[in-house]
Amino acid sequence: MRTLIHNIGTLAGILPQGKRKLSGEEMGKVECIDNAWLLVDDGIIVDFGPVSDSPLPQADKMIDAKGGYVMPSFCDSHSHVVYAGCRDGEFRDKIAGLSYEEIAARGGGILNSADLLHSTSEDELFRQSIQRVQEVMAKGTGALEIKSGYGLTTEDELKMLRVIKRIRQAVPIEIKATFLGAHAVGRAFRGNQQGYVDLVCNEMIPAVAAENLAEFVDVFCDEGFFTVEQTARILEVGAAHGLKPKIHANELAVSGGVQVGVKFGALSVDHLERTTDEEIEVLKGSQTMPTMLPGASFFLGMPYGRAKDYIRAGLPVALASDYNPGSSPSGDMRFVMALGCIRMRLTPEEAFNACTINSAYAMGVESMLGSITRGKKASLIITKPLPSLSFIPYAHQSPFIALGPDCLLKQLGYH
Ligand code: NIG
Ligand code: FE
Repeated sequence: MRTLIHNIGTLAGILPQGKRKLSGEEMGKVECIDNAWLLVDDGIIVDFGPVSDSPLPQADKMIDAKGGYVMPSFCDSHSHVVYAGCRDGEFRDKIAGLSYEEIAARGGGILNSADLLHSTSEDELFRQSIQRVQEVMAKGTGALEIKSGYGLTTEDELKMLRVIKRIRQAVPIEIKATFLGAHAVGRAFRGNQQGYVDLVCNEMIPAVAAENLAEFVDVFCDEGFFTVEQTARILEVGAAHGLKPKIHANELAVSGGVQVGVKFGALSVDHLERTTDEEIEVLKGSQTMPTMLPGASFFLGMPYGRAKDYIRAGLPVALASDYNPGSSPSGDMRFVMALGCIRMRLTPEEAFNACTINSAYAMGVESMLGSITRGKKASLIITKPLPSLSFIPYAHQSPFIALGPDCLLKQLGYH
């Protein structure tokens, strides 16, 4: 079925076929066509152009963009949206002055979420989690990576990953699953971190691979969590089971996580609230996407990543939400884009590219998503008429979506 989106005020985020990510100065440009049309065939972008050039192509169905922007949907390459309940009690502790590390050291934090998840049935976990996915789809997210890591036993990690699989089957957007067994040491292994790492390597990873439940493996490589040596071992076992690394690094301290991630060919190294120039040097010449999570900096009052320095060094940068109950209870990618501009001094164009093509790369979907490109999936946002692209992060609380990727994909024939 051919669908023509017409009356497009500005078609934004056009990239040539084969462009997988944008680095350095390239990040400052968003290619646009004003007064445009876009033709979709069975959910795939087949052509687009300016209205002035030639008569509009024939189609079975028309969608009127009413003068709005048409842009690629957001790709959110780092989230933990599968969790049970919430941690609003810790929110009070945080306001009263306790740090993230202090809450974790008291047995709260991730372990608190693991206890709640353990006592929640798989069906109930699915019900709670898909609501969050629906919430972010309505805010423009068209691809979402979701991590395990609130199970911390083999059984509960598998429960989480099965829920992610059910979500993938239930929604029209792209879902990628990451195994994050090494998120914290499970309660049964308190004082025996090595024993827990053995469990991750010898039991959890083989079980996850046997059911083909994840594409990626992640480790919280940070002070008070997992060491570089433990991370290396987990990544090695993950690689032997076909899992590509994505790493939590440098959130709480300069951890060596970037170096070990690059060494093992990580698709992305994420957080980077604390970075020295050495990390920037290490990332140069690698294929690893530095990914920053300004929602976590905002919520925990941590430093923001040095995105500008990375870009000046010629590197790409991706932004993602980190949607989770402890450090970033929001999956709003437009807010992420706004924080990128307001707190990290990215231009609106840099923030746009960081939330679309570069975050698509950071979750391995850049060949099908993240830009307006012939042959890619028409996972799009049609906006209300806007004065400029800058308006999106600038007036970040004013509703801007006329038709989001969820509704649009359904109209284009996805379930
Ligand atoms: O990315 N840092 C580790 N993991 C999450 C937080 C998880 C939690 O506190 O529940 C993050 O910030
Ligand atoms: Fe995270």
